[in-house]
Amino acid sequence: MSKIEFEPTDNKVGCFIYTNLKEVKKEQIDEIKKLLNKYGVLFFKNQSLSPKEYINFSSNFGIPAKYPMLKPHKDFKDIYVIERKKTDTGKSFGEGPHTDSSYLESPPKFTFLQAVEVPEEEGKGNTLFYNQFLAYEALPEEIKQKIENLKGIFSSQGKIAQTRKLRMADHGTSEIKEIKSEHKLVQSIDGRKTIYCSPGHVVGIVNLSSEQEELISFLSSHQINENFSYSFGWKKGDIALWSNRSMLHAATAFNGDRKMFRITVQ
Ligand SMILES: [Fe+2]
Repeated sequence: MSKIEFEPTDNKVGCFIYTNLKEVKKEQIDEIKKLLNKYGVLFFKNQSLSPKEYINFSSNFGIPAKYPMLKPHKDFKDIYVIERKKTDTGKSFGEGPHTDSSYLESPPKFTFLQAVEVPEEEGKGNTLFYNQFLAYEALPEEIKQKIENLKGIFSSQGKIAQTRKLRMADHGTSEIKEIKSEHKLVQSIDGRKTIYCSPGHVVGIVNLSSEQEELISFLSSHQINENFSYSFGWKKGDIALWSNRSMLHAATAFNGDRKMFRITVQ
Protein backbone atom coordinates (compact mmCIF):
# COMPACT_ATOMS: atom_id res chain seq x y z
CA MET A 1 0.00 0.00 0.00
CA SER A 2 1.38 3.38 -0.89
CA LYS A 3 1.60 5.81 1.97
CA ILE A 4 0.38 9.37 1.89
CA GLU A 5 3.10 11.98 1.36
CA PHE A 6 2.55 14.61 4.03
CA GLU A 7 4.32 17.33 5.97
CA PRO A 8 2.84 19.27 8.94
CA THR A 9 3.30 23.05 9.01
CA ASP A 10 6.14 24.18 11.32
CA ASN A 11 3.74 25.18 14.11
CA LYS A 12 1.57 22.03 13.67
CA VAL A 13 -1.43 24.10 12.55
CA GLY A 14 -2.43 21.97 9.59
CA CYS A 15 -0.63 19.57 7.28
CA PHE A 16 0.41 19.59 3.61
CA ILE A 17 -0.44 16.56 1.48
CA TYR A 18 1.35 15.94 -1.83
CA THR A 19 -0.29 12.69 -2.94
CA ASN A 20 -2.07 13.00 -6.29
CA LEU A 21 -5.81 12.89 -5.51
CA LYS A 22 -6.62 11.66 -9.03
CA GLU A 23 -5.08 8.32 -8.05
CA VAL A 24 -5.97 8.15 -4.37
CA LYS A 25 -6.78 4.68 -2.97
CA LYS A 26 -9.26 3.63 -0.29
CA GLU A 27 -6.50 2.91 2.29
CA GLN A 28 -5.01 6.32 1.58
CA ILE A 29 -8.38 7.98 2.24
CA ASP A 30 -8.38 6.34 5.69
CA GLU A 31 -4.93 7.77 6.30
CA ILE A 32 -6.08 11.22 5.15
CA LYS A 33 -9.01 11.04 7.60
CA LYS A 34 -6.61 10.33 10.47
CA LEU A 35 -4.43 13.29 9.48
CA LEU A 36 -7.53 15.48 9.23
CA ASN A 37 -8.62 14.55 12.76
CA LYS A 38 -5.13 15.15 14.06
CA TYR A 39 -4.24 18.47 12.37
CA GLY A 40 -7.68 20.00 11.70
CA VAL A 41 -6.81 21.29 8.22
CA LEU A 42 -5.13 19.65 5.23
CA PHE A 43 -3.64 21.46 2.23
CA PHE A 44 -3.57 19.34 -0.93
CA LYS A 45 -0.92 20.84 -3.21
CA ASN A 46 -0.33 20.42 -6.95
CA GLN A 47 -3.80 19.04 -7.72
CA SER A 48 -5.91 19.23 -10.87
CA LEU A 49 -9.26 17.61 -10.04
CA SER A 50 -12.19 18.19 -12.38
CA PRO A 51 -15.46 19.23 -10.65
CA LYS A 52 -16.67 15.60 -10.86
CA GLU A 53 -13.44 14.21 -9.37
CA TYR A 54 -13.57 16.88 -6.67
CA ILE A 55 -17.15 15.92 -5.73
CA ASN A 56 -16.18 12.23 -5.74
CA PHE A 57 -13.25 12.89 -3.41
CA SER A 58 -15.44 14.92 -1.03
CA SER A 59 -18.02 12.12 -0.89
CA ASN A 60 -15.52 10.00 1.08
CA PHE A 61 -15.97 12.38 4.02
CA GLY A 62 -19.75 12.73 4.27
CA ILE A 63 -22.98 13.69 2.60
CA PRO A 64 -23.01 17.02 0.70
CA ALA A 65 -24.58 19.82 2.74
CA LYS A 66 -26.76 22.61 1.39
CA TYR A 67 -25.48 26.12 2.02
CA PRO A 68 -28.56 28.18 2.90
CA MET A 69 -27.19 31.56 1.78
CA LEU A 70 -26.06 30.98 -1.81
CA LYS A 71 -27.30 29.24 -4.94
CA PRO A 72 -25.23 26.24 -6.03
CA HIS A 73 -23.12 25.96 -9.22
CA LYS A 74 -25.47 25.65 -12.21
CA ASP A 75 -24.09 22.26 -13.36
CA PHE A 76 -22.86 20.80 -10.04
CA LYS A 77 -25.36 21.22 -7.22
CA ASP A 78 -22.86 20.19 -4.50
CA ILE A 79 -20.47 23.02 -5.41
CA TYR A 80 -20.91 26.65 -4.33
CA VAL A 81 -18.94 29.28 -6.20
CA ILE A 82 -17.15 31.91 -4.14
CA GLU A 83 -16.04 34.52 -6.63
CA ARG A 84 -14.45 37.93 -6.29
CA LYS A 85 -13.69 40.27 -9.17
CA LYS A 86 -10.97 42.89 -9.40
CA THR A 87 -13.68 45.53 -9.52
CA ASP A 88 -15.46 44.32 -6.34
CA THR A 89 -15.22 46.60 -3.33
CA GLY A 90 -15.91 45.89 0.35
CA LYS A 91 -14.90 42.94 2.47
CA SER A 92 -13.96 39.51 1.12
CA PHE A 93 -16.54 36.75 1.62
CA GLY A 94 -15.87 35.15 5.03
CA GLU A 95 -13.46 37.83 6.25
CA GLY A 96 -13.18 37.56 10.01
CA PRO A 97 -12.59 34.34 12.03
CA HIS A 98 -15.49 31.88 11.97
CA THR A 99 -16.46 28.27 11.52
CA ASP A 100 -18.85 27.48 8.68
CA SER A 101 -22.63 27.65 9.18
CA SER A 102 -22.36 27.23 12.97
CA TYR A 103 -25.83 28.83 13.31
CA LEU A 104 -27.35 25.59 11.93
CA GLU A 105 -28.51 22.87 14.30
CA SER A 106 -26.20 20.38 12.55
CA PRO A 107 -23.40 22.44 11.04
CA PRO A 108 -21.39 20.78 8.24
CA LYS A 109 -18.52 18.74 9.70
CA PHE A 110 -16.02 19.47 6.94
CA THR A 111 -15.45 22.18 4.34
CA PHE A 112 -13.52 21.78 1.08
CA LEU A 113 -12.26 24.77 -0.88
CA GLN A 114 -10.66 24.42 -4.32
CA ALA A 115 -8.76 27.25 -6.04
CA VAL A 116 -10.08 27.57 -9.60
CA GLU A 117 -8.63 31.00 -10.31
CA VAL A 118 -6.39 32.94 -7.91
CA PRO A 119 -4.35 36.16 -8.06
CA GLU A 120 -0.72 35.46 -9.08
CA GLU A 121 0.81 37.73 -6.48
CA GLU A 122 2.24 36.05 -3.35
CA GLY A 123 0.15 36.59 -0.20
CA LYS A 124 -2.90 37.88 -2.06
CA GLY A 125 -6.15 36.22 -1.02
CA ASN A 126 -4.57 33.94 1.61
CA THR A 127 -6.88 32.08 4.01
CA LEU A 128 -6.04 32.15 7.71
CA PHE A 129 -6.54 29.04 9.84
CA TYR A 130 -6.60 28.88 13.65
CA ASN A 131 -6.19 25.51 15.34
CA GLN A 132 -8.69 25.11 18.19
CA PHE A 133 -7.07 22.00 19.71
CA LEU A 134 -4.01 24.14 20.43
CA ALA A 135 -6.18 27.07 21.52
CA TYR A 136 -8.00 24.84 24.03
CA GLU A 137 -4.76 23.39 25.42
CA ALA A 138 -3.40 26.90 26.01
CA LEU A 139 -6.46 28.10 27.98
CA PRO A 140 -5.98 28.90 31.68
CA GLU A 141 -7.31 26.03 33.81
CA GLU A 142 -10.07 28.17 35.35
CA ILE A 143 -11.45 29.08 31.90
CA LYS A 144 -11.36 25.41 30.83
CA GLN A 145 -13.50 24.59 33.85
CA LYS A 146 -15.79 27.54 33.32
CA ILE A 147 -16.64 26.73 29.69
CA GLU A 148 -16.76 22.93 30.04
CA ASN A 149 -20.56 22.74 30.17
CA LEU A 150 -21.53 26.07 28.63
CA LYS A 151 -23.44 26.50 25.40
CA GLY A 152 -23.00 29.35 22.95
CA ILE A 153 -25.81 31.02 21.00
CA PHE A 154 -24.85 31.07 17.31
CA SER A 155 -26.64 33.37 14.83
CA SER A 156 -26.54 33.76 11.05
CA GLN A 157 -26.74 37.49 11.71
CA GLY A 158 -23.50 37.57 13.73
CA LYS A 159 -20.53 39.76 12.77
CA ILE A 160 -19.60 37.76 9.68
CA ALA A 161 -23.01 38.38 8.04
CA GLN A 162 -21.89 41.68 6.52
CA THR A 163 -19.22 39.93 4.39
CA ARG A 164 -21.94 37.85 2.74
CA LYS A 165 -23.82 40.83 1.33
CA LEU A 166 -21.65 41.23 -1.75
CA ARG A 167 -21.96 37.52 -2.69
CA MET A 168 -25.69 37.51 -2.03
CA ALA A 169 -26.24 40.41 -4.38
CA ASP A 170 -25.24 38.24 -7.36
CA HIS A 171 -25.65 34.60 -6.23
CA GLY A 172 -27.86 34.87 -3.13
CA THR A 173 -30.98 33.00 -2.20
CA SER A 174 -33.97 34.84 -0.78
CA GLU A 175 -33.55 33.23 2.65
CA ILE A 176 -32.54 36.23 4.68
CA LYS A 177 -34.24 35.55 7.99
CA GLU A 178 -32.12 34.84 11.04
CA ILE A 179 -31.13 31.24 11.83
CA LYS A 180 -30.04 30.49 15.40
CA SER A 181 -28.72 27.44 17.27
CA GLU A 182 -27.05 26.51 20.53
CA HIS A 183 -23.90 24.39 20.71
CA LYS A 184 -21.46 23.31 23.42
CA LEU A 185 -18.41 25.60 23.58
CA VAL A 186 -16.13 22.62 24.20
CA GLN A 187 -16.22 19.74 21.71
CA SER A 188 -14.22 16.58 21.54
CA ILE A 189 -12.65 14.83 18.52
CA ASP A 190 -10.81 11.52 19.04
CA GLY A 191 -10.63 12.34 22.76
CA ARG A 192 -9.02 15.77 22.22
CA LYS A 193 -10.91 18.90 23.24
CA THR A 194 -11.42 21.98 21.07
CA ILE A 195 -12.97 25.39 21.57
CA TYR A 196 -16.11 25.64 19.45
CA CYS A 197 -16.91 29.34 19.48
CA SER A 198 -17.25 31.04 16.09
CA PRO A 199 -16.44 34.74 16.63
CA GLY A 200 -18.35 35.57 13.44
CA HIS A 201 -21.56 33.98 14.75
CA VAL A 202 -21.64 33.78 18.55
CA VAL A 203 -23.99 36.41 19.96
CA GLY A 204 -24.39 35.12 23.52
CA ILE A 205 -23.89 32.32 26.03
CA VAL A 206 -26.83 30.38 27.51
CA ASN A 207 -27.56 31.28 31.17
CA LEU A 208 -24.62 33.66 31.49
CA SER A 209 -26.11 37.08 30.92
CA SER A 210 -23.87 39.31 33.04
CA GLU A 211 -20.46 37.88 32.09
CA GLN A 212 -21.16 36.71 28.55
CA GLU A 213 -19.67 39.66 26.70
CA GLU A 214 -16.44 39.52 28.65
CA LEU A 215 -16.07 35.77 28.14
CA ILE A 216 -16.87 35.93 24.39
CA SER A 217 -14.36 38.71 23.91
CA PHE A 218 -11.67 36.85 25.88
CA LEU A 219 -12.23 33.65 23.87
CA SER A 220 -12.41 35.46 20.53
CA SER A 221 -8.99 37.04 20.97
CA HIS A 222 -7.41 33.95 22.55
CA GLN A 223 -8.65 31.68 19.74
CA ILE A 224 -6.73 33.57 17.04
CA ASN A 225 -3.39 33.90 18.83
CA GLU A 226 -0.54 33.68 16.32
CA ASN A 227 0.78 30.53 18.04
CA PHE A 228 -2.24 28.63 16.73
CA SER A 229 -2.51 30.29 13.33
CA TYR A 230 -1.33 29.62 9.79
CA SER A 231 -1.76 31.71 6.64
CA PHE A 232 -2.29 29.52 3.58
CA GLY A 233 -1.37 30.93 0.15
CA TRP A 234 -3.32 29.45 -2.75
CA LYS A 235 -2.10 28.22 -6.11
CA LYS A 236 -4.49 27.16 -8.86
CA GLY A 237 -5.73 23.59 -8.24
CA ASP A 238 -4.96 23.57 -4.51
CA ILE A 239 -7.62 22.12 -2.22
CA ALA A 240 -7.96 22.83 1.50
CA LEU A 241 -10.06 20.54 3.67
CA TRP A 242 -10.82 21.41 7.26
CA SER A 243 -12.86 20.26 10.21
CA ASN A 244 -15.32 22.92 11.31
CA ARG A 245 -15.19 21.62 14.87
CA SER A 246 -11.44 22.01 15.34
CA MET A 247 -10.53 24.99 13.17
CA LEU A 248 -11.50 28.60 12.75
CA HIS A 249 -10.72 30.22 9.41
CA ALA A 250 -10.88 33.67 7.86
CA ALA A 251 -10.60 35.11 4.38
CA THR A 252 -8.21 38.05 4.01
CA ALA A 253 -8.75 41.38 2.23
CA PHE A 254 -7.47 41.55 -1.35
CA ASN A 255 -8.22 43.03 -4.73
CA GLY A 256 -8.10 40.72 -7.70
CA ASP A 257 -9.94 38.07 -9.65
CA ARG A 258 -10.47 34.91 -7.68
CA LYS A 259 -12.79 31.95 -8.08
CA MET A 260 -13.10 29.17 -5.51
CA PHE A 261 -15.31 26.06 -5.46
CA ARG A 262 -16.64 25.22 -2.04
CA ILE A 263 -18.20 21.94 -0.86
CA THR A 264 -19.37 21.24 2.67
CA VAL A 265 -20.30 17.80 3.97
CA GLN A 266 -22.31 16.60 6.92
FE1 LIG B 1 -16.01 30.11 5.86
